[in-house]
Amino acid sequence: MEQLIQQSDSQPSVNGLQQQTETGSFSIAQFPSDFGLTKSIRRQLRKNEVSATTKHKSVLPDLHEGEVKKLLGAMKSEEALLRSREELRQISKQLLTIQENERQRIAADLHDGIGQSLSLIKLSLESVMQQVVTGERREAVRSLQQLSHKVKETMAELHRTTMDMRPAMLDDLGIIPTLSWFFREFESAWHDRKVEKDVSIAESDVPVPLKATIFRILQEAMNNIVKHARADSIHVSLKRTGDILQLSIADNGRGFDLSAASARRGSDRGFGLFTMKERARSSGGSFEMQSALESGTRILVSWRFANHTDGEFSDRSGRARNLSNV
Ligand SMILES: Nc1ncnc2c1ncn2[C@@H]1O[C@H](COP(=O)(O)OP(=O)(O)OP(=O)(O)O)[C@@H](O)[C@H]1O
Ligand SMILES: [Mg+2]
Repeated sequence: MEQLIQQSDSQPSVNGLQQQTETGSFSIAQFPSDFGLTKSIRRQLRKNEVSATTKHKSVLPDLHEGEVKKLLGAMKSEEALLRSREELRQISKQLLTIQENERQRIAADLHDGIGQSLSLIKLSLESVMQQVVTGERREAVRSLQQLSHKVKETMAELHRTTMDMRPAMLDDLGIIPTLSWFFREFESAWHDRKVEKDVSIAESDVPVPLKATIFRILQEAMNNIVKHARADSIHVSLKRTGDILQLSIADNGRGFDLSAASARRGSDRGFGLFTMKERARSSGGSFEMQSALESGTRILVSWRFANHTDGEFSDRSGRARNLSNV
């Protein structure tokens, strides 16, 4: 009976209950009214509580076997509920931290990139005004030409930052042109990494809400490859086989120890893997990751169509999800 439940803090547990009844500190009040105890168990416990506090006896032995079972059943469901509530709390805490970090990163990008460029443009404009006032026409024209170039660069930077937040292309043109654009940008930034692409789907194979999810997962997986993998070859595939839509990203890099990475805590722990998993899970998909030291890493995300109508997927448990609500 004692091994059945291990519970912490102020919540009732069988261990705690036994100890409390032995020391006479047991109180029925510790069971919340919605705890699931039947009236008769409550009555019995209350009766035993009085005798236990006076005689230092256990509360439990006086209950019938069926009642003890019910009590344990109620404790177990409460325990499971508390655990899933705690998990949910942890997940939403992590999501908030991710959101906060993302905001900080965007703020830093805007401040250091576009903010600095605008300050420089303002200074240059002031100096052009000075040149106009003092009649240095030729210098003023040259400065204005440089300024025009600087404004163009800043516009490109703004474009890059907004693309990073949400590529407008995804909404305007769809996932396939966005992926082509992404691979082009990636290859032009990282010449030494060969990307083999196998995107054999039609635009209509991907429900609208999944497009951003796929793009974000790919973006983080590719960032991780650049940051950590030391790979020279990457294979990306996005295909639909029957009722399964599958995204796979594999590299031939140095790989890593998955359990060691997930055991990291605090500032040492990144958010990318967690976010990819959460994106996959919350869109009704399944997420798998394999990694072997010196052989590389592979991420596989799959979504199952509940039927062949666009927008309907089911998760692994077979529950249908309408992706337009995700
Ligand atoms: N493709 C990969 N190859 C080798 N190691 C990887 C790869 N992807 C992830 N890792 C390892 O897993 C760890 C966790 O990755 P994760 O994306 O969660 O965090 P991060 O990239 O360190 O930080 P963040 O994503 O928050 O900027 C990394 O620190 C790295 O050690
Ligand atoms: Mg990362």
